[in-house]
Amino acid sequence: MIDDPVLVNDWHPVASTDQLDAGAPVAARLLGEDLVLWRSGQTYCAWRDLCVHRGTRLSLGKVVAGVALECPYHGWTYGADGRCILMPAHPEQAPPAKACVDVYRTAVGHGVVWVSLGGGTLELPTFDLFDQPGHQVIMSGPYRVKASGPRVVENFLDVGHFPFVHEGTLGDRARPEIADYSAEVDSGGVVAKGVKVFQPDPYGTGRGSMVTYTYRVHRPLSASFIKHGELSFGMMLSVTPHDAVDSSAWMWMVMNYEPASSMIEFQDRIFAQDRPILESQRPELLPLDLQAELHLRSDRTAIAYRRWLREIGVRTGTA
Ligand code: FES
Ligand SMILES: [Fe+2]
Repeated sequence: MIDDPVLVNDWHPVASTDQLDAGAPVAARLLGEDLVLWRSGQTYCAWRDLCVHRGTRLSLGKVVAGVALECPYHGWTYGADGRCILMPAHPEQAPPAKACVDVYRTAVGHGVVWVSLGGGTLELPTFDLFDQPGHQVIMSGPYRVKASGPRVVENFLDVGHFPFVHEGTLGDRARPEIADYSAEVDSGGVVAKGVKVFQPDPYGTGRGSMVTYTYRVHRPLSASFIKHGELSFGMMLSVTPHDAVDSSAWMWMVMNYEPASSMIEFQDRIFAQDRPILESQRPELLPLDLQAELHLRSDRTAIAYRRWLREIGVRTGTA
């Protein structure tokens, strides 16, 4: 496991509930730790992906009777609390107390199972629009990307790239200027207000307009924005840090209207434009020293984000 107390204690999305409801164990990697995820009755389990008998991956095994997990090698079977309940070669023998896998905390929210490798004392990441009446939530991703989690979050906060990376949808090359806006670090993370850009298709409806964004970074790897314009639209991002430079981006779009076409396909296209940029960035680890790389006035949100990560001591994906 990566030595990063802040992220170890935080919640991270690891699988959709649909995926686990299908009944088979699922492998996942979080902060350098291999996990097996599965459902026992109504409980979602996240364990170290390792049978204590001979170190086999339990994610290659199967769920038996909907409540226990069987190792693929010699059939040792574990209950939801991680204790071995059966060693088939010696069915009469009670498994020793040591025959127990490492168990992590899970929580369910926004259609996803979240894991904390530590205390899990925080609330799950969320944002204002989730609770607004008349809004629908559409999840897209997860998008796997060979980049550091903080680089992915910073890309989400960055509007200066819209006219070049997302020309024709989120930006227009003819209108690349960014007016001044405010960004600061407060007790809840980072907040940037009054971020204005012209967008050819800000809502996926095919109509262009000037929009104003409010961005918030709630947790080191979770951020959201709300677009203020003719319609209500917002998005939350949570990034799973598999390893320092291997991530998955989960996105929830929230809106008060019926989009003209598939928002998932729209977001798939947008992320496909961001991916090669993210995977090309060097250094791969986000520099928290503000003397590294160059910053403009329009990079205020990124500056505040780097400052905050440094303040709270995030180590994964940063330098
Ligand atoms: S390695 Fe799992 S039962 Fe032997
Ligand atoms: Fe982008």
